[in-house]
Amino acid sequence: MHPSDPQVTVSTLLERPDLVDALWELGDLWPAFMLHDPIADLYYDRCTRLFPDLVLVAEDPRTPGTVVARGFAVPFAARSTPLPDEGWDAVIRWGIEDLVDGRTSTHASALEITIRPEFRGGGLAARMIAAMRRAAEQQGVAALVAPVRPSAKHLEPHVPMDDYADRVRSDGLPVDPWLRTHVRVGGRIERVAPRSMTIVGSLDDWRGWTGVRFDRSGPVEVDRALVPVIVDLERDRAIYVEPNVWVSHPID
Ligand SMILES: CC(C)(COP(=O)(O)OP(=O)(O)OC[C@H]1O[C@@H](n2cnc3c(N)ncnc32)[C@H](O)[C@@H]1OP(=O)(O)O)[C@@H](O)C(=O)NCCC(=O)NCCS
Repeated sequence: MHPSDPQVTVSTLLERPDLVDALWELGDLWPAFMLHDPIADLYYDRCTRLFPDLVLVAEDPRTPGTVVARGFAVPFAARSTPLPDEGWDAVIRWGIEDLVDGRTSTHASALEITIRPEFRGGGLAARMIAAMRRAAEQQGVAALVAPVRPSAKHLEPHVPMDDYADRVRSDGLPVDPWLRTHVRVGGRIERVAPRSMTIVGSLDDWRGWTGVRFDRSGPVEVDRALVPVIVDLERDRAIYVEPNVWVSHPID
């Protein structure tokens, strides 16, 4: 079966609560350093309880009970803008604050879509975005937004994200594959979120996460990082500030 086969079902966790454990067994598909954004646990530790209608699970009927792709989104009330500079970190904070304070959501933000490598390149990604848009629509919000992590940006860590996000092919679609998929299904590139995720650690933390020696101060390239990590030997710390690209998906 090709991954784009419509028999691969995409559901919300509310519809498929039986997949709650399988959701976390997708595999180690993220670089280790990406798992150390301190904001992340605010969402991931409670999303299956608080937002099961915005958590997506894709199941291959050949392997029932196994999740082959997953998606996460958070509802939030827009402040002065629904597209903050602190992208991913900001919408998680806002979403949890809103829940505590009882504020009505105006938007939903996608936080992650991850697909098993053998299921990539066959249209499942577009179906996941469409399913996320439907899930947001059910919440009655005005738009689905996404601080997108362009999937080929790590190959050019020194190119400014503004320049990278502006690059288009001769058909007018973005050069970056993941941005291209978002635009192809109706998304609009709005702006760069320059400080979407901030990950700070001691040099030993970073050595453990990456295997890099970090023996000089300044910008250091790290595998699968979208921009260099900034190292400060004297103060024993390194900081990674990941820019993402805000994309909006209007809802009918
Ligand atoms: C980002 C991600 C969800 C995209 O899924 P995908 O299946 O690659 O997406 P698409 O099928 O829409 O492919 C996008 C483009 O890349 C191409 N592509 C994807 N996988 C490919 C492969 N293995 N070989 C060649 N081309 C490939 C597709 O053909 C498509 O190109 P086109 O627009 O010219 O047709 C997936 O790569 C993934 O899970 N990555 C790891 C997690 C991640 O980074 N998530 C995004 C941030 S939240």
